Amino acid sequence: MLSKTVEEALNRQVNRELYSSYLYLGMSAYFETLNLKGFAGWMMIQAKEERAHAMKFYDYIIARQGKVVLDTIEAPKAKWTSAGKVFEEVYAHEQKVTGMINNLVDIAIREKDHATFEVLQWFVKEQVEEEANAAMICEKIKTVGDVPGHLFYLDHELAKRK
Ligand code: FEO
Repeated sequence: MLSKTVEEALNRQVNRELYSSYLYLGMSAYFETLNLKGFAGWMMIQAKEERAHAMKFYDYIIARQGKVVLDTIEAPKAKWTSAGKVFEEVYAHEQKVTGMINNLVDIAIREKDHATFEVLQWFVKEQVEEEANAAMICEKIKTVGDVPGHLFYLDHELAKRK
């Protein structure tokens, strides 16, 4: 059984992960407008991963006899000025998510909820990867130049993501 505090915190995170999915779906649509199909595909996979993160929390709440309460998902931004700006936002967003996960870990510790603490360790590791991927792509865009004409090779590379 989850404490009310942990249950509410996990439900908030379901919403935030769904928002991340929605944000990255919007970014995928933006890359379609630039005809950067590899970037769009990379972002689409990212959107699916975020939904999977939401579902991990969702399934866990139910497994602990908690109640899932879904809330409104905020509309994400729809326009950016360049591919580089999109990835800077991804990096900043993932850093914010890391803070949220750390905060959840703090709550699990305060509530002496060892099972939740254990589940969150997967997310702690995942955030290391999420931040590293975003930072690496930001650097690559800076290196080649943040204009669509220079990004076709990188587009090809990002298209390989499965
Ligand atoms: Fe669900 Fe990108 O963190």
